[in-house]
Parts: sequence; C-alpha cells; structure tokens
Amino acid sequence: MKILAIETSCDETALSIVNFSSKKKFEVLSDSVLSQIEIHKEYGGVYPAVAKREHTNNIFPLLLASLKKAGMLEKRKNPLKNPVLLVKKLEKVLDRDKQNLENIVHLLCTYKKPKIDVVAVTYGPGLEIALWTGFNVARALSVIWNTVLIPTNHMEGHIYSSLINENKKGVFEILKPKFPLISLLISGGHTDLVLSKSEGKYNIIGTTLDDAVGEAYDKSARLMGISYPGGPEVSKLAESWNSKVKSNITLPRPMIHKDNFDFSFSGLKTAVLYLVKAEEKKGKLKKSFKQELAAEFEDSVSEVLTKKTKKAIEKYGAKSLIIGGGVSANNRLRKEFQTLSDNENIDLFLPSKKYTGDNALMIAVAGYFNFKNNTYKKSAKKVDGNLKLK
Ligand code: KG4
Ligand code: ZN
Repeated sequence: MKILAIETSCDETALSIVNFSSKKKFEVLSDSVLSQIEIHKEYGGVYPAVAKREHTNNIFPLLLASLKKAGMLEKRKNPLKNPVLLVKKLEKVLDRDKQNLENIVHLLCTYKKPKIDVVAVTYGPGLEIALWTGFNVARALSVIWNTVLIPTNHMEGHIYSSLINENKKGVFEILKPKFPLISLLISGGHTDLVLSKSEGKYNIIGTTLDDAVGEAYDKSARLMGISYPGGPEVSKLAESWNSKVKSNITLPRPMIHKDNFDFSFSGLKTAVLYLVKAEEKKGKLKKSFKQELAAEFEDSVSEVLTKKTKKAIEKYGAKSLIIGGGVSANNRLRKEFQTLSDNENIDLFLPSKKYTGDNALMIAVAGYFNFKNNTYKKSAKKVDGNLKLK
C-alpha cells in the first residue's frame, strides 16, 4: 500500500512517499524536509505569516520532486476529458490558496494519476495558519486521485518516529513496543507524558503548564545571545563544560517534588534571565559562563524529565518507554533515558537522529496505522492547532 504524507505544522515543509509491503515493513520511495529555519532566524522564532508563505510556495515543487523521485510522475498522453466537475470541487477546497489551486489543476491535467492509495496529512497540533496549507493540498490530492484522506496527529507522528527502524539494506520496519507504554514527548510546543495501554490509545497523564522544554531551551539560548532555534547550541555548550569543575550556578528544578506528572519550565527561563542580567553588568558574557549556565540548565531539565518519567513508569507498570520530539535529539537526555530504562528494566525506543525533528515519514507511518485500524477521522474539514492525543 502506497502512502503520500504531508507535514506543515510549523517551520518545515515535509513530504514522504512510502510503500508498505506488510504490516511491519515498508520501503521509502521519497522523503524530503524543506526547513525554513534560516528565514525565521531573523525574527528570533517562527513567524507564522512567513511560515504560511513558505509552505505555500514550497509545497508544490516538493510534491513534483517527490513524485518524480518515487517514479510516479508520468505525463498524460491525451488531455483529460471534461475535468470541469473536479475543478469545481478543487475550487471549493483551495478557495483560499489560488496559487496551489492553479498548481493542482495543472497536475490533474498534465500528469497521470500516480499509484497512491492513501494521502495522510498533519491536521494538528501546530500553527493553524501553517497547517491549513498542507491540509488543503492533501485534501485536493485526495479529490483528484480519489483516495482516502487520513488526518494525522503530529504528536502521534513523533511517537511512531521512535518506532521506525532502518536496517543496513535500507529496509524499514516498525518496532512493536510492549504495553503499557509511556511516551515522553518533548518538542518546541510540547512536554507531554502519555500512557498507552494498547496500540493507538493515548491518555495524557502530564503536560506542561507553561513553556515546553524546547521553548525553554530556545528562550534561554536567546538570552545567551544564541539565535533561533537555540536548543542544539545550548546542548553543545553544556557538553563542552568540564563537569569535574564545581559549578557556582544553581537553577531551580521546577515541580520536581510535586505529586503529579505536570511540568513547568517558564521559571527556569526566568532564572536564566536573572543570572544573565547580573553577569552582563560585569561586561560581555564570557564563553565559560555560557558553558556553565548551559550545563546547569541541562542538569535541571534532565533531572526533572527523568524523575517524572521514572515515577510514571513505576506507577503504571510500564514495559516500554518512548522518547519523541525535537528535543529527543539531545545527547545528554538520550543517555539519561538509556540509564533509566536499564535501571527500570524496560524497553527504550529513541528516534534515530534523522527523525527526531519534524518530518513526513512519521506522518506516513502514523497515517498507515490509523488507516489499518480504521481509527482515523473521516471527512475532516478543519485543522486543529490544539489537537490532543486520545
Ligand atoms: O519536534 P520539533 O522539531 O518541532 C516541534 O514540533 O516543536 O522540535 C523543535 C525543538 C526546538 O525547540 C529545538 O530547539 C529543540 O527541539 N531541539 C533541541 C535539540 N535539537 C532540537 N533541544 C535540545 N537539544 C537538542 N540537541
Ligand atoms: Zn514536532
């Protein structure tokens, strides 16, 4: 079964075409991510209207390139007879995106229908203005190709991205976790602890009350003069700090002793702000100060995340642990969760570095399972920026 998946929830336009040969195995026919990071850098974060403009401009060229790479872009020999009805339908779906309306009509009239069985698309959570571009193009494709449309949850995608395993021969398989399963989802918009008692069932047992972990990384980085997204750079600074030297900096461990699974990271960022302000009074921030601060910041984050996750594992008798989302690229956290899962004697699933950030492969896989299990939302007409896992 061949799936085309589209992801436009934030600042990456991503498109993937995969072929599932069995319930567990699949082949990747094309997989591309067009990042807008360089463009958003000057705004210090993702600027929604610019994200939308970039998705709108990039999605069609990316679609054509992906179909070509997958060997699915074949010109029609004869012009399409009477596409009036289809064009009318397309006009309704893409009434706010004239550029892609024109593009999709061109696709319909110029190229043969590719052998795509299902179109999956992220419909939340994320920036609604950005989600709409991918969602409407996906809907339009499902109209002209007459395929099923699977609206997919971005966070479920991050869970599945930790279960993707690529062997040395380039064959992809989906690993099967044992249940109960705890997933810790850490990204720019989320810090969620999720309990699953069976495949495709989610119960959010804890979440952030304010900033997400990735957001705290990015905001603290900005205070240290590091441009967006600062998470990876803060992490590098922390790694370069000599941990044998006793640190003079102490940051809070927000909510670490609270008897629940919720998080709060805005206080951590404020504490960073005060320390930076005090240090700036002495002059330009020194590299050693930034390294020390970053190391303490990462200590705090990793202590809070591992302690709460450990508590959740023990309370629910979890047999597997998934770590997903952009922040799961962090080396320190990967190490800490490896140690935690060894100590707790449970299986750990970390995404390969290639799939920690936003991508469409994870949407293809999540879409596939929702299609197979018939758990997808039929005839979805809207995106949902605050979509929750259920
Ligand atoms: O999942 P993602 O790509 O986008 C969202 O859905 O939000 O996550 C992006 C977040 C950013 O905040 C970025 O700074 C953070 O992941 N991030 C990291 C690292 N790599 C990316 N944070 C800490 N350490 C890293 N190595
Ligand atoms: Zn994400």
